[in-house]
Amino acid sequence: MKVLLLGSGGREHALAHAIKKSPKLSELYIAPGNSGMALEGSLVDLDILDSHALIHFAQEKAIDLVVIGPEAPLVAGVADDLRAAGIACFGPSKKGAQLEGSKKFAKEFMADCGIPTAAYGAFCEANPAHDFIDKHPGALVVKADGLATGKGVYVCSKSQEAHDAVDEIFSGKFGSAGKEIIIEEFLEGRECSFLVLRDESGFRTLPLSQDHKKIGEGDTGPNTGGMGVYSPSDVSDKEYQEMFDIAQQTHQGLIDKHIDFRGVIYLGFMLCEDGPKVLEYNARFGDPETQAILPRIDSDVLEHLSAVAHNNLSESPLQVSKDASFCVILASKGYPGSYEKGKEITGIDEANKVEGVYVYHAGTKREDQKLLTNGGRVLAVCAKASNLSKAADKAYEAVELIDFEGKYYRRDIGYQVLK
Ligand code: AMP
Ligand code: GLY
Repeated sequence: MKVLLLGSGGREHALAHAIKKSPKLSELYIAPGNSGMALEGSLVDLDILDSHALIHFAQEKAIDLVVIGPEAPLVAGVADDLRAAGIACFGPSKKGAQLEGSKKFAKEFMADCGIPTAAYGAFCEANPAHDFIDKHPGALVVKADGLATGKGVYVCSKSQEAHDAVDEIFSGKFGSAGKEIIIEEFLEGRECSFLVLRDESGFRTLPLSQDHKKIGEGDTGPNTGGMGVYSPSDVSDKEYQEMFDIAQQTHQGLIDKHIDFRGVIYLGFMLCEDGPKVLEYNARFGDPETQAILPRIDSDVLEHLSAVAHNNLSESPLQVSKDASFCVILASKGYPGSYEKGKEITGIDEANKVEGVYVYHAGTKREDQKLLTNGGRVLAVCAKASNLSKAADKAYEAVELIDFEGKYYRRDIGYQVLK
């Protein structure tokens, strides 16, 4: 199979690494990719939002499967355009991607399907939003409706913070993504990332994982795209069953609404006292969940992705390893706010020699033979071992071997389950 993978983050590096292991693969192209991915396949300089250019390339190279990593091309309808041109594609339709692209759409979908989630109000003007906050004193969560790379969510412990968040979003900071606002009840509990591969024929649960969204240790400070992940996550059988049932309801809801969804549904759960509730849907693999999850899949990942693209997932059983995996994000100082780029990175080869460790690139670039930082989240240092505590030790051992100016990471990934 000739495969074209779209994206340039740590998630796509993990996808490329897994796809490359497949005996079915003949050629892997990655657009635009990053310097780590240059070792996994051929990088091509294509705009991943430009359907016309992608179709042209796919036809020229006789690509058998396009795998879309990030949300932006999905929300823009690139999967629909590729399929309309007869090119098999892993990734939901534009309509399906609205589960992530519009929080209001997702809330209405959940209401229609009877899926438990936080109570909320939706607003397109500031005054009613402020009135709503006054009527609901205490902790609230204010969210921009559209895509905001994980930065459009404000967890507000006090009403004043919620008022400020409303003003900030309506100030135009997020462009059209901030034209509408969702304000919802604050839910307490542990989070769990529940990802399923899904097509018309069914869905399959990927290994569960737990992300750490906050920048600071002990889950403090602003939200980020994710600072570290462990898998499996620690949930009771009852919680697992309830999350599975909600995934089933989601799958059925897509069938009932005739929404073409061939890809990953990422259900972001809060495990509340009265059961799991959906915080959000994503229409793609998580980052950095994917870096921790894919190494735990023993069966052929490319074969699964291709099955989904052909609505044939029910014929493609998944084998999951009993090993645990653990992933620590190395970020640039200042992230998720402003940060400097262009710092030299050393030690990745040494880190990769630690048993069970693999370092995925996210924000890196190569210049004059040197590897430099080129983003907020720079690297994902991942380790696989027979249990979580061993995997954590290996990952942190590797983290210490890597250096760049301003290197920041959380030392407490997995603190809820590791002592
Ligand atoms: P979202 O993009 O909607 O998942 O929000 C990002 C993060 O904000 C989540 O992973 C949670 O950590 C936090 N969050 C979102 N909604 C809520 C809520 N209703 N209650 C508590 N925390 C939330
Ligand atoms: N790690 C959270 C996300 O991918 O949205």
